[in-house]
Amino acid sequence: MSLHFSARLILAALAVVYACGSSPAGSSNSLLDVTPDGKRLLVANADNGSITVVDTAANTVLREIAVGDKPEGVAWIGNGPLAVVTVYNDDIVAFVDTNTGKVVAKLRVSDEPYGIVVTKDGRYAYVTHEYPGTVSEIDLGQRKVLRTMKAGEMVRGLALSPDEKRLYVTEFYTGVLLALDRETGVKVDRWEGHSSDNLCRNVIVHPRRPKAYLPHIRSKIDVIDGSGSIFPHLSICDLVPLNGQKRRTSIGMDSYNGVYVVTNPWEAALSPDGKRLYTIYAGTNDMNISEVVDDDYKEIKRLGFAVRVGQNPRAVRVSPDGKKVYIANTLDFEVAVHEANSLERLACIKVCEPPKSLEWVRGKILFSTANRPLTSRRWIACASCHPDGHSDGRVWHNPEGLRKTPAFMGLAHTHPLHWSADRDEVQDFEYTIRGRLMQGPGLLRGSLKPKIGFEPIELSEDLAERSKDLDALAIYCNSFDFTLSPHIPAPGKLSAAAERGRQLFTSDTVGCAKCHRGPYYTDSTLKKPFNLHDVGTGSDDPSEKMGPKYDTPTLLGVYRTAPYLHHGKAKTLRDVLTTCNPNDKHGKTSHLKPQEIDDLVAFLKSLPYELPPKETPNTVKYRYHKD
Ligand code: HEC
Ligand code: HEC
Repeated sequence: MSLHFSARLILAALAVVYACGSSPAGSSNSLLDVTPDGKRLLVANADNGSITVVDTAANTVLREIAVGDKPEGVAWIGNGPLAVVTVYNDDIVAFVDTNTGKVVAKLRVSDEPYGIVVTKDGRYAYVTHEYPGTVSEIDLGQRKVLRTMKAGEMVRGLALSPDEKRLYVTEFYTGVLLALDRETGVKVDRWEGHSSDNLCRNVIVHPRRPKAYLPHIRSKIDVIDGSGSIFPHLSICDLVPLNGQKRRTSIGMDSYNGVYVVTNPWEAALSPDGKRLYTIYAGTNDMNISEVVDDDYKEIKRLGFAVRVGQNPRAVRVSPDGKKVYIANTLDFEVAVHEANSLERLACIKVCEPPKSLEWVRGKILFSTANRPLTSRRWIACASCHPDGHSDGRVWHNPEGLRKTPAFMGLAHTHPLHWSADRDEVQDFEYTIRGRLMQGPGLLRGSLKPKIGFEPIELSEDLAERSKDLDALAIYCNSFDFTLSPHIPAPGKLSAAAERGRQLFTSDTVGCAKCHRGPYYTDSTLKKPFNLHDVGTGSDDPSEKMGPKYDTPTLLGVYRTAPYLHHGKAKTLRDVLTTCNPNDKHGKTSHLKPQEIDDLVAFLKSLPYELPPKETPNTVKYRYHKD
């Protein structure tokens, strides 16, 4: 009997079980998933490229299974043994037989599969694709994508309503909640948040009350201060509007525990009876347990104070009997089992080995924490603005001027750092740690050369090899690689429009490649004097203190990193070449026909169409590399 066939039999059997069973809550996206019978737990180890199967009766690991680069979501198909996993960097959904430890199928899906949920009958799975912002529907029996639904911009969080008629989706950079009708695939509702809502990766839906809960942060871009820039929030949306009113309320979790601040809410979970809500905080390593209040006003009430959990908790799930809470402490490489009411820790299960290298892991721990010595205020972690090497999509009102947060892909090869090239090593971020933003004691003993005004003193202060922790932070920041653009017909290939764009890009008249050159499309080099250029963008911002010359940014990955330029005033790539380039100082574009601009944009969106080399003459020493 083929595996395929046996899987179908299991699915058919499951459908029967569910038809006469109780009605469990709809499921939601997570790195953790427990089977409906509570016997098995699955955890995705994003940095290890694996998933781990846990026997929940014995609290032991049954097996770890390699699935690919960056698994971000897991879901059981019924009670197993089959499960599905979204593999973010490989653009696949892996079908895994957890009994044999084999990946039985790799289904090619759209780019950046993040969250995944499975219907109770085990027949369909739904997947959020961060970029391009879609949800795909997968037939689990046939193992094929049935349809793709347009959802929003950069979607991550995903939940099924308890009656499975709707899909709820969150936008990562706005915290907007969207509802899709499962039958028609059409977007039927939208809950707008506050304009500063950011980094929302998860949504859960109450089993009985028409409410959705979304953990996220708020990024206050006009305040640069240890306790005023980033706020932890839990938004609650009324899924059925009450007289058309009160659609969304947001609770500031910073004051939820009195003066004890919690940072970077990552995920939430409800007990099966819907009476308890658990929220975990990846920056301060703690968890709140709250009572769900049935009043449409206060919504939740804290039970006791936040309790400490392990390092960088990124997932929380409750067992189907409501007695246990599982937490994935991702930088301890453990799943902790807590008693659901007292929160007493019952067991700790080691699910994988530390990935990559010990320095890299240390760097990620430092980068993710809002505890000392990174900051003394507990509000901000480096990861609050640079989530897993991505940008936070924001333009911050820094003292030196408007500054868009860059992504870290390719950072090891594109030094110097900052738009104005005022730093030449990641270790220089000791100045950020000790500065107004983080207000931390720092990772280095002793004093630094004082920073006076906007003078780039960091360039003359050599900080590498003076602190193991700062070196580890550098190794972590320099570890992010690009994945291929989804806008190409095949690896190494360009569409006809992009090929025409490439010819314009490299032509002498348009002249883009004079600065955006080499495999990383930049002339950045650590050789002094640095190559800085005035491309006419420095005068657009009256608060600018360091312009008008900037370091040439890489163009790899620009298809997903809007808004553009140091000040973020170009909303699209077209704007960079047109409205933001009135005097032809940024390449010669004014003579181009609209069709030619389209071709140039098509080329930019295709980058990278082949992966750049792992080493160039400008590659820095402090980085993680496999060899
Ligand atoms: C409040 C948001 C915020 C926080 C917190 C933050 N950064 Fe940044 N980061 C930015 C912005 C904005 C820039 C661009 C600044 C510039 O170019 O002048 C940046 C730039 C960088 C760069 C340079 C990237 C490049 O391509 O040039 C690195 C490296 C970096 N940050 C590391 C860190 C580290 C390490 C921490 C923690 C100690 C941290 N950041 C904390 C917002 C933040
Ligand atoms: C003289 C050097 C130079 C030339 C020529 C040049 N660029 Fe740039 N490019 C830069 C610099 C410097 C910046 C950053 C400017 C800023 O942020 O204000 C930049 C920024 C960009 C950005 C925004 C990237 C981001 O992440 O925000 C894009 C896109 C871009 N250039 C494309 C092009 C194209 C296409 C051409 C040809 C039409 C071109 N550039 C010509 C130096 C150059």
